[in-house]
Amino acid sequence: MAQVVVTGGGGFIGSHLIGALLTRGDEVTVIDLCEDIPWRLSHLSGRGNLRYVAADVRDRQKCEEAIPGSCSKIFHLAAVVGVRNYCSDPLETIDTNIGGLRTILGAALLRGSKIIFASTSEVYGKNSKVPLGEDSDRVLGPTSIDRWSYGSSKAICEHMLFATHRKHSLPMVIVRLFNAYGPRQKPIFAIPAMIDEVVNGRGPRVYDSGEQTRCFTFADDVIEGILRASERPLAEGQAFNIGSSQEITMASLARKVIDVGGKSGELEPRFVDTKGIYRSYEDPSRRVPGVSRAKEVLGWAAKTSLDTGLRKTFEFVRMEIDQERG
Ligand SMILES: NC(=O)c1ccc[n+]([C@@H]2O[C@H](COP(=O)([O-])OP(=O)(O)OC[C@H]3O[C@@H](n4cnc5c(N)ncnc54)[C@H](O)[C@@H]3O)[C@@H](O)[C@H]2O)c1
Repeated sequence: MAQVVVTGGGGFIGSHLIGALLTRGDEVTVIDLCEDIPWRLSHLSGRGNLRYVAADVRDRQKCEEAIPGSCSKIFHLAAVVGVRNYCSDPLETIDTNIGGLRTILGAALLRGSKIIFASTSEVYGKNSKVPLGEDSDRVLGPTSIDRWSYGSSKAICEHMLFATHRKHSLPMVIVRLFNAYGPRQKPIFAIPAMIDEVVNGRGPRVYDSGEQTRCFTFADDVIEGILRASERPLAEGQAFNIGSSQEITMASLARKVIDVGGKSGELEPRFVDTKGIYRSYEDPSRRVPGVSRAKEVLGWAAKTSLDTGLRKTFEFVRMEIDQERG
């Protein structure tokens, strides 16, 4: 039975990952901020091989106590996530993302644990020469634009990991996630926000022209990619794009959400100017992952179509609403 740690495990990706790790029989220690086990893990809380520790990942002492000496893998997911969050507090974003990794690096080196680091397509910034290969350039906007604080901090984390891998032979792998979505995601993200609006009879909001594109990747596929990256010896010391190749404009996504939600003809997308929402904002125009490395080394490609993933996410949201109504 492997001893593994998931930081930020009370979040959206963590809840799916932990479910999969427990099913494989791993002993999982979760580190997150909530005092009590987070609601996203409540469906797993009876499992004997799950242990929850409330700690800030920047708190070296608490993390040292929480991480078992025999821990083989640390899935480091704890981060400030979501455009709204990192634009509203870039200092906290930078401090959590970089300070948190520093703690985890120290703990992993002491124990010989492998780090699986959740990075992001945001490290490519606004490079629109798609598909984006793992060695594509980072094209970032000016540092006066808060939006780039998240991608920049994750990029520094990647530098720290590559450097520690080379200097101290730290076993590590980096997964760059591309717009993950699925059940249990906060409605500050595009798809759950649109679903929430459609379920409540409002047209889904689309920022600016809606011509910007993304590749949305369903949670089950993301978890499969993370697990494969964590297991394949050949993956060590590398970064992998974990993203679907199904590119869609945000305006088309809004129409699809309306359609899958059964509200075609009733609702229309609502276009919103981001200048009225964010103090300083820029948005990448296209974002499509190159997935050849993930295919070759991990044998991974996203399998879930956007229609199927949206249907499953809608089902989950409706089930939650039914449960709330009793
Ligand atoms: N969801 C996506 O589309 C996406 C895309 C790219 C990368 N990622 C990365 O995947 C990881 C997980 O993202 P998510 O979507 O599950 O986000 P999430 O916000 O749902 O989960 C992040 C978790 O980290 C915890 N956390 C934040 N600060 C912490 C701290 N100081 N100490 C301990 N825990 C802390 C939060 O409480 C939360 O439970 C993050 O590292 C994120 O950058 C996610």
